[in-house]
Amino acid sequence: MSAKNIYFYYKNVCEEILGPEHGITSGQFAELAKKTAPLIERLNQERKSGKTPYRDLPYHPRYPKEVKELAARLQQECENFVVLGIGGSALGNIALQTALNPYLYNLDSKQRKGPRLFVFDNVDPVQFGSFLDWIGDQLNKTVFNVISKSGQTAETAAQFLVIRQMLLERLGPEGYKKQIVATTDPKKGTLRAITDKAGFRALEVPDGVGGRFSVLSPVGLLSAAVCGIDIETLLEGARQMDERVSRTDFFANPAALNAAIQWHYYQRGKRISVMMPYCHALKDLSDWYRQLWAESLGKKTDLDGRAVFVGPTPVNALGTTDQHSRVQLYREGPNDKVFTFLQVKQFKRDVVMGDCPPEAPELGYLARASMAKLLNSEKLATEYALIQDKRPCLTVIFDSVCPETVGQFFYLYEVTTSLAGMLFHINAYDQPAVELGKEATFALMGRAGYEEMAKKIRPFQETDSRYLV
Ligand code: PA5
Repeated sequence: MSAKNIYFYYKNVCEEILGPEHGITSGQFAELAKKTAPLIERLNQERKSGKTPYRDLPYHPRYPKEVKELAARLQQECENFVVLGIGGSALGNIALQTALNPYLYNLDSKQRKGPRLFVFDNVDPVQFGSFLDWIGDQLNKTVFNVISKSGQTAETAAQFLVIRQMLLERLGPEGYKKQIVATTDPKKGTLRAITDKAGFRALEVPDGVGGRFSVLSPVGLLSAAVCGIDIETLLEGARQMDERVSRTDFFANPAALNAAIQWHYYQRGKRISVMMPYCHALKDLSDWYRQLWAESLGKKTDLDGRAVFVGPTPVNALGTTDQHSRVQLYREGPNDKVFTFLQVKQFKRDVVMGDCPPEAPELGYLARASMAKLLNSEKLATEYALIQDKRPCLTVIFDSVCPETVGQFFYLYEVTTSLAGMLFHINAYDQPAVELGKEATFALMGRAGYEEMAKKIRPFQETDSRYLV
């Protein structure tokens, strides 16, 4: 193992802690091991036969080099780096930035090693409009990274069309070409065609890697490298985790344990999976996880074509903030959740509190105390309180938040998701249910070929005043 690691801690789901009604007995663990161990073998085989190309991203011979070379040039060229993408083309970028760069990265030039970063993963005109007002007179110092495998995703395409128009009008064709970097399919698709015509600099979205599994590809790596994140160490972390999650010994494999525990509780009616980091930097890892878990595991049919309607619901929370908003529900509401805390042993820095005012001796316990100690004490206190109410709690412990451990985390959860998909006996890599909403949007926006769909939607477009109060 390396100097900095993450660890998966599962004592607080065991029967000895939670009792027989909500805890997992050693017999049940043995059953889970028996069921999951062959799946680890199968997943390892599938990986060897090329069925899970995301597994090999940390070893890619070309991507990191290409990304670093381009990032070095972009760092010289721009003061603002703007990602246009959505879903798997944005959440990993956001998670990396929040985890590994300072909180005030964009505001304080002394705290950053690259250009400001903006990631737009929506089409809100007020939000985007406000950004356009600010960026308009600094376009020549701004690079836009359009990330889309297909190029047809309405949100990304819409943002691109706005920026394209602005660049063409203000900087002309040369400026348009220079200020855009595309990350897209190397051979086909709408964005590929636009890229080839315009002559944009471009990186690849790898073949066979779904958006939500693509953070360790150029999709996630470019913005990270441009903003000074050490992507080599990030990938090294992922490689270290690869060894751990490939182990066929169930009890030595954190992904297998994690997937099996989550699957087991789902069968026992605990169908909500809450991820609650006690560290602001890890906050958007739980957002990334939410997409990975939901899109991968929420499926109507299983691999035999039977209707199963399965899928645990991922929920993200933040400690300590949500202690003051949701813990009441988490302790006294239905016992239908599995909690995963993210905890940090060694924070990058600490803040020490001041003296206690003489008129408030009740605050004395905080005087000259460490904020890191308070945060971690609150994590333990919340976990203790949840356990009193027999709520199962897992923890991913980070030695520290650094590229190595963040790389381990991504890889751990990607492989956990693959194994959970196998336990649920569903395809974890498709997302058929997302299509209908996309097509309905095309129809509502008048795209040719969607006229029949437009007719079907028409009744829903009228607001029925009888139901409007
Ligand atoms: O995980 C996924 O596959 C999705 O979230 C996609 O990343 C998202 O829909 C964007 O797709 P595209 O890259 O084609 O624009």
